[in-house]
Amino acid sequence: MILETISVLATEPAYVGAFVTWFAAPALAAATEPGQFVMLHCSDEGTDPMFARAFSYHRVAAGRFAILYNVVGRGTAWLASRERGDLVRAYGPLGQGYRLPDQAGNLLLVAGGVGAAPLVDLAERAVSAGHQVVALMGARSSAQLLAPSAWPKEVEYVVVTEDGSMGPRGFVTEHLGQYQEWASKIYACGPNAMFASLAEKLRFNGRRQRPEILMEENMPCGWGMCYGCAVFTKHGVRLCCKDGPRFNLFDVY
Ligand SMILES: Cc1cc2nc3c(=O)[nH]c(=O)nc-3n(C[C@H](O)[C@H](O)[C@H](O)COP(=O)(O)OP(=O)(O)OC[C@H]3O[C@@H](n4cnc5c(N)ncnc54)[C@H](O)[C@@H]3O)c2cc1C
Ligand code: FES
Repeated sequence: MILETISVLATEPAYVGAFVTWFAAPALAAATEPGQFVMLHCSDEGTDPMFARAFSYHRVAAGRFAILYNVVGRGTAWLASRERGDLVRAYGPLGQGYRLPDQAGNLLLVAGGVGAAPLVDLAERAVSAGHQVVALMGARSSAQLLAPSAWPKEVEYVVVTEDGSMGPRGFVTEHLGQYQEWASKIYACGPNAMFASLAEKLRFNGRRQRPEILMEENMPCGWGMCYGCAVFTKHGVRLCCKDGPRFNLFDVY
């Protein structure tokens, strides 16, 4: 684990209520796996909020990385108001990330809302490694969708909205359609309700695709010290921060 004081390069709106912030971070941008996360101290004086907040690596480039986040509380509001050159104390990279297959294959990425964050990094690496990628993103409405330009141009990007304002109406797991059969491997990130629904859809014919999910629990420390992030799997209790956040879908659901 690396501790680094990183500097804000830029913050851009991603969609309504969400931002992408890029950081100059030579150490924390090196040797990451897709699906790993970084802890950011989201306060000037280090006491409010006291605990660092977890964010998935959204994009990684030489010497810098980006996070994609919804503004939901004090920490994320503080982050969104940082300006270029502001410093943020951080540590990472943490957790077990997604594993890409050795052989080129057909990868289906299923994103629920801001769960798209780590899937963009995964898509970039997958495309570079010669995989075919379909990214299926679900959101409440068109205002909460990532722009197509956020994904590598080789990715087929399919959207589903709960209100039908873009793409088919409903939940993303109701529209796996032909992509489920096409996929040789499935990756997902989103709310727990989405994972439960995905497990129902895939229970009988999706086991061969060994779906990998990234789970989210409250993480006071992020590296296995506080035992505050328990996940109850079929094989016993696991720590989301250390044993995860990547889990096999059917080990949990
Ligand atoms: C491994 C991991 C990776 C994560 N990656 C990302 C990421 O890439 N992008 C991202 O946006 N978030 C991500 N999160 C969630 C992120 O850590 C929280 O959104 C963040 O801690 C909120 O901090 P805050 O201080 O803004 O909100 P707080 O002040 O802690 O909370 C304010 C209010 O918002 C609610 N709240 C807190 N978190 C969430 C949430 N996630 N969704 C809805 N309501 C919430 C709280 O219950 C509370 O009512 C990740 C979490 C984990 C564990
Ligand atoms: S967050 Fe502390 S043990 Fe996982």
